[in-house]
Amino acid sequence: MNDLEQRLRRQAVQCRGNGSPLTGALLEGAAADLAAGGVVADLLGRHADEPSGSVPSLRLAGSLHRLVLERKAPELALHYASVGGTASAEDVWPAAGRTIRDNLDELRKLVTHPVQTNEVGRSAALYGALQLLGGPVRLLEVGASAGLNLRCDKFAYDLGDGQVLGDPASAVRLVRPWERHFPIARQPVEVLLRKGCDPKPIDPATTEGRLTLTSYVWGDQVDRLDRLRGALRVAERVPAPVVCEGALEFLTRELADLPAGLTTVVWHSVVWQYVDPAERRAVDALMVRAGWNATDGARLARVSLEPERMGDGDFTFRVYVQLWPHGDRVHVADALGHGPPVRWTGRAPGSS
Ligand SMILES: C[S@@+](CC[C@H](N)C(=O)[O-])C[C@H]1O[C@@H](n2cnc3c(N)ncnc32)[C@H](O)[C@@H]1O
Repeated sequence: MNDLEQRLRRQAVQCRGNGSPLTGALLEGAAADLAAGGVVADLLGRHADEPSGSVPSLRLAGSLHRLVLERKAPELALHYASVGGTASAEDVWPAAGRTIRDNLDELRKLVTHPVQTNEVGRSAALYGALQLLGGPVRLLEVGASAGLNLRCDKFAYDLGDGQVLGDPASAVRLVRPWERHFPIARQPVEVLLRKGCDPKPIDPATTEGRLTLTSYVWGDQVDRLDRLRGALRVAERVPAPVVCEGALEFLTRELADLPAGLTTVVWHSVVWQYVDPAERRAVDALMVRAGWNATDGARLARVSLEPERMGDGDFTFRVYVQLWPHGDRVHVADALGHGPPVRWTGRAPGSS
């Protein structure tokens, strides 16, 4: 089995494990076709030596979903719940293979595009972390993509115990997003300023931006698609600029002053692996230097949700809050890759 075939098969297992039998079956079919020297070998063979983080498998899945969303792949669309399809996910491959053959030139271009997502469910972790911090916030997101999570306070969090946090009337509704003991009494979250950066920002107001974000959500994951569509509606009325910059450039400017009366919160989710090691080290050092200027009246926090490899090779998504003036870093929760359920550890900044 060659390396690309193995990567397709591994990704298929992950997709199934993360609730997408459609993408699982699609990638298994693609792996078998590649092994047989079929059309997938022609399409993806030239990408075989690219780093695994660039996920050619998910670029293929996203490219095919895009054709479905653009109504260019009617036979394949029958399998995609995202456009009302009801045909079996397990039987997707023959239609996918024919779609690839019929659209080879366009797909050659599409599979060169990086996977670009904005996962709204990750707001379940961010919103909880803002609850732990309390008080009015200036929210700065690094690697914000379309900036949808910068609106986390405008989503509804239905805790399942009769309480709905955030905006109960929101077009985004996260139902039972939290598990285990939330360590403190609820406090209002007030995001007064919001701003993000991304070297490849997506404009959620454009058709192209919306199509890109939607195409990389797996086509049978109706809950994720609903959350995304809801967040696009929220974005229409809640501005949150995302500037075209990398983490270091953005934070060097934004952390030069910490405004009094606010907690400046730097948030990043599933970004760190894409930032080169020198920039990562520079951002870590910058945060510590900025932390020296923090006071109890002008606090600085870093909230992150990033994958960590466990002993058995699997990943877990850890949520940390680091809070200055003291700089203590607390593991507050674990989440799934797409966010919920967020399992709180019972620890909070200042209580460890
Ligand atoms: C997997 S996406 C996650 C997007 C968003 N944080 C979320 O959770 O939905 C990773 C993002 O990191 C961005 N990124 C890559 N290099 C970066 C850098 N040096 N500084 C800031 N963001 C970066 C990418 O453009 C992409 O939008």
